[in-house]
Amino acid sequence: MQEEKSGSVVNVDAVELKEDGSAVVIIDQTLLPNRVEYIELTTPKQMYDAIFQLKVRGAPAIGVCAGYCYYVLARGIALEAADWQTFKTMLHIQKEYLNSSRPTAVNLSWALNRMEAVVDAGEGKPMPEVLDLLEAECKAIHAEDLAMSEAISAYGASLLKDGDGVLTHCNAGPLACLGYGTGQGPLFYAHDHGKEVHVFADETRPLLQGARLTSYELQRAGIDVTLICDNMASIVMKNGWVQACMVGCDRVAMNGDAANKIGTSGVAILARHYGIPFYVLGPTSTIDQNSPTGDDIKIELRNPDEIKTMWYAEPKALPEVKCYNPSFDVTDHELITAIITEKGICYPPYEKSLAALFE
Ligand code: MRU
Repeated sequence: MQEEKSGSVVNVDAVELKEDGSAVVIIDQTLLPNRVEYIELTTPKQMYDAIFQLKVRGAPAIGVCAGYCYYVLARGIALEAADWQTFKTMLHIQKEYLNSSRPTAVNLSWALNRMEAVVDAGEGKPMPEVLDLLEAECKAIHAEDLAMSEAISAYGASLLKDGDGVLTHCNAGPLACLGYGTGQGPLFYAHDHGKEVHVFADETRPLLQGARLTSYELQRAGIDVTLICDNMASIVMKNGWVQACMVGCDRVAMNGDAANKIGTSGVAILARHYGIPFYVLGPTSTIDQNSPTGDDIKIELRNPDEIKTMWYAEPKALPEVKCYNPSFDVTDHELITAIITEKGICYPPYEKSLAALFE
């Protein structure tokens, strides 16, 4: 791990391509905050498992990781495949396999489609040239991700005043996005530019990304952070300690409905009740032009063990008790004050302001 520069964690590389191009290197986020361990991904199964098991997670980081995975696999398949058609077919099968690892974050399919488009355009070119183009494309996805993080963070920070309290949910900081982040990017950006905010980080049941990752990142950066259980958001808002809510997103529909970590929509409902602005932050790659409304967004259902056993020495519910464990929920666009992208701040009506981003 590249250690913090100037008290910030923005230079941590949660996802990297190994220098010789033979593997994707990630921080295993499931081990944080107790251990910082890097793992190398070389096989399709390792890559699928890393995404499915949330060793790499957060919509933009999943996209960057998927681009690198595609390139590493393409190198291997290029050595095996007898001809162009076999190369394309084998790579497409692996692409679809990776794409099935998690359904909600659109950046996964976005990055994989972007890589496949390079192959489609490469027909007739020598294989080494196609591989060079693929390497350039996955590195471009990473570089663009860093740039978008910075731009989103600057826009978001412009909405905060020195001394504000900000409530956030899940993890949408450097580990999830690379660079400053999205949902938490403005907090790091503000801090690095001389504006101090204090942050309430929801622990984010059941996988505790807020406790394990967000409070870790903010604390290490020297930002004033207080960890709360998800069911404490109402009291800190009622106490007048929160002037803004900021969250990331996994997929935004064209009407502004935004899917993010389970519990986000509850925060938005509370924020509306207490008259607190609620901001969703994410790159345009997270806006899905194929989803007109939130009803079109597929919600990932995960293993009940994440609720019943994962964090406990002994199970805290009978094995036969049913669990419902949706990983995301959709916040109605009417509850969202603004959607902040790298291209600017979008306000309602979102049908117009989001469509304008793609014109
Ligand atoms: O299940 P996770 O941990 O991948 O969920 C992550 C989130 O919901 C984030 O808030 C979202 O991906 C935005 S990350 C910039």
